Amino acid sequence: MKDSVNKHPLRHAVHRAILSRKSTRAFLPKTVDPAIIDELLQIAGSAPSGSNIQPWQVHVVSGAARDRLSAALLSEHEAGKPPVREYDYYPQEWRSPYIERRRATGWGLYGVLGIGKGDREASARQHGRNYVFFDAPVVLIFTIDADLPFGCWLDYGMFLQNIMIGARGYGLHTCPQAALANYPHIVKQQLGIADDKIVMCGIAIGYENPDEPVNTFQPTRIPLEDYVTYHRD
Ligand SMILES: Cc1cc2nc3c(=O)[nH]c(=O)nc-3n(C[C@H](O)[C@H](O)[C@H](O)COP(=O)(O)O)c2cc1C
Repeated sequence: MKDSVNKHPLRHAVHRAILSRKSTRAFLPKTVDPAIIDELLQIAGSAPSGSNIQPWQVHVVSGAARDRLSAALLSEHEAGKPPVREYDYYPQEWRSPYIERRRATGWGLYGVLGIGKGDREASARQHGRNYVFFDAPVVLIFTIDADLPFGCWLDYGMFLQNIMIGARGYGLHTCPQAALANYPHIVKQQLGIADDKIVMCGIAIGYENPDEPVNTFQPTRIPLEDYVTYHRD
C-alpha cells in the first residue's frame, strides 16, 4: 500500500466507522435526539446520484406514531398474513453460491439466539422482532417514486449506507430492514404514503443493547479473491 494512502488522516476514522457498523437487533429504550436524526439525514443526503436527482424520501417515525406502526405490522405478522411485496428483494429461486451464504448467516444468527433448526415458532417470533424494530426508538422508512428506473436504486443504496455509517459518528447503531416492506399497504396507511411510491425498506436506529447476545453475531465475509478479478497486462 502506498504511504500516502496509509497515512491519510481520515483513514482510521472512516474505516472504523465502516467496520463498526453491524446489523443491530436489540436496542436500548434510550431516545435519540431528533436534531441528531436531522443532521444525520442531511449528511446522508450528500450521497452521489446520477444527474444529482436524489431519489430518496424518508419518513422519520418515533413516539406514538412508531408504536402504532409497530402494532399494525405486528398484527399482520401474527395473523400469519403472507408478505405483499412491491418488489423482489431476495431471488425467487435460491441457487449456489447465494443459498449457502444465506443458510450460513441464518443458522449463525439462530445459533447465537439458541433457536434450533426446524423450530418454526421461535423463528417466527424472532422474525416478529422486525416489527417492533428490535426495540429501537426510531425507525426510518424509505420510499421511492414507483416510476423511477432500476438505476436509481443504486443511488438509493448509497444514501442508505451513508445513514448507517454516519450513525456511527453519533454512537448510534442501525439495522436495515427489508422486512418492513413486507406489508407496504400497512406502512402506507399508517404514514399517509401515496400509492405511486414504493416502500423500499426501513432502518431501525438507536443505541445498541450491549447485553443482548444477538448483537454479538458477526457474519463472515467472502475473501477478496472470490469477488475481485484483476486485469493488469
Ligand atoms: C437492504 C437490507 C435489508 C435487510 N433486511 C433485514 C431485515 O429485514 N431483518 C434483519 O434482521 N436483517 C436485515 N438485513 C441485515 C442483513 O441480514 C445483514 O446486513 C447481513 O447479514 C450482514 O450482517 P451485518 O449487517 O451485521 O454485517 C438487511 C440488510 C440489508 C442491506
